[in-house]
Amino acid sequence: MARENWTSSIGFILASAGSAIGLGNIWKFPYMAGTNGGGTFVFVYLLCVFLIGLPVMCSEMLIGRVTRRNVINALGKIELISSSTFGRNILCFLAGAAMVLFASIHAWLLAGASLIGAVAFARKGFAAVGWVCAILSFAILSYYAVVGGWIVEYIWRSLTATFTDIEGVTAIEVAKQSTAEFGAYTANPWRVLIGFAIFMALTGAVILGGIQAGIERVSKILMPALFVLLLVVIVRSVTLPGAWEGVVFLLKPTAAAFSPKVIMMALGQAFFSLSLGMAITVTYGSYLKRDQSILHAAGWVGILDTLAALLAGLAIFPAVFSVGLDPSAGPGLIFGALPATFATMPLGAIWATAFFFMLLIAAVTSSASLLECTATVLIERMRKHHKRCTRRCAVWIAFITCSLAGLLSVFSTADWTYLPCVEKGVRWCLGSLTQGNWFDTLDNLCSNWGLPFTALIIALLIGWVYGTRRAKINLLSSDASKNPPKWLLTAWGISVKWIAPVAILIVFLTMSGLLKL
Ligand code: PHE
Repeated sequence: MARENWTSSIGFILASAGSAIGLGNIWKFPYMAGTNGGGTFVFVYLLCVFLIGLPVMCSEMLIGRVTRRNVINALGKIELISSSTFGRNILCFLAGAAMVLFASIHAWLLAGASLIGAVAFARKGFAAVGWVCAILSFAILSYYAVVGGWIVEYIWRSLTATFTDIEGVTAIEVAKQSTAEFGAYTANPWRVLIGFAIFMALTGAVILGGIQAGIERVSKILMPALFVLLLVVIVRSVTLPGAWEGVVFLLKPTAAAFSPKVIMMALGQAFFSLSLGMAITVTYGSYLKRDQSILHAAGWVGILDTLAALLAGLAIFPAVFSVGLDPSAGPGLIFGALPATFATMPLGAIWATAFFFMLLIAAVTSSASLLECTATVLIERMRKHHKRCTRRCAVWIAFITCSLAGLLSVFSTADWTYLPCVEKGVRWCLGSLTQGNWFDTLDNLCSNWGLPFTALIIALLIGWVYGTRRAKINLLSSDASKNPPKWLLTAWGISVKWIAPVAILIVFLTMSGLLKL
């Protein structure tokens, strides 16, 4: 079958932005900024996006375009083209080092997994990285869908106007009440389960029903609409009394708030938000025509994604400060602040419904790319072993197992009360990486350890195995007029080869306590 190409750069950019822009921008970015020192976090985050995230994104697109595979096996193919076993040795070394590190903090499950990884890397090289990507996308979807479920619940609440229909009550009271209500809501897993099931079903339907093209078309209209709506909410939020403090909190870095942990959180958030480290962008890149410039495309996706995150921050923090909420409240932050803002708007219920609905669409385009990633690896691997596995069957397997795995997050978003035995097991498996409930633990593992790890592998593959000289030629468009200035290419090369790998390694070593800064 002939491979389709993106008819225009715009189509490509919008589709990649569809995967990138999601709950990571609007739900996670504000609360991460809130718990990690506001402006300081934002500043480090921007550095991470532009110095490390975007170069890695270009590398993923490049791998896709060079190998023309829409599968994760593209990584193996790049190694093959490069005909070098150097990268394989580095991989084994990294996996071995990870094993020692995890054993030293008593994370026995991860130590075991690293051992298996080391053996797999020795035998199969970069092709085995596909499994890591599949496991990561599977794990991320299992808790991403829980947050998606919260959005479903909030669409319901705004439709029935439970939080906007409060006359004569001040925004401060609404905020306090909605924060308490959010706490009560997540403490009741059965209710959370309903939203989770609806969100998973939507994701499954998009992939199974083959309506991805349709949803992308819809999101081309709804994504810009989401931006417009964010602007409306910002206008309301910054005009609340005492809102300015929130803007300062978000944009002004302070040296006192700086710590190595902030760098790790910002780096993880950058990869999460840009959908990197899972080779999803490889698939997108495989459809990119030769006459399109990868640097341009990646630049645009990065700018749109960052803009969405900053706008979300500007929509949330002024309200948070105006109504006196705690900016470091964690995952529930937007569910306390947004209802308060909407409650003070004329026709608040309508704005709220529209906002949460568009957020849901943005979340579904992202979760669909996660489910697709798991399913693709399953199909590819099963085919390799001559087992018959149709696309349909792979998607069903991914969907069902992921829904089951998601139950763990559903039943432990408040605390471990419902799963005391699981808690013991998790502590044994993950050692000191266990943080609060399962939901937080998994998010920490995937975003702050998993994604940077796979991004590191991709940077090493392109920077050292494939080589930046060859890569630079392929990064360019065949149409010279579309090419970016030369210094940008040089900067890209330096980042992939040096900055990204060194920074990621330093973050790992510092966070595991082996290196003291
Ligand atoms: N980038 C998406 C978001 O910000 C989440 C995501 C992560 C999607 C990784 C795909 C892969 O919501």
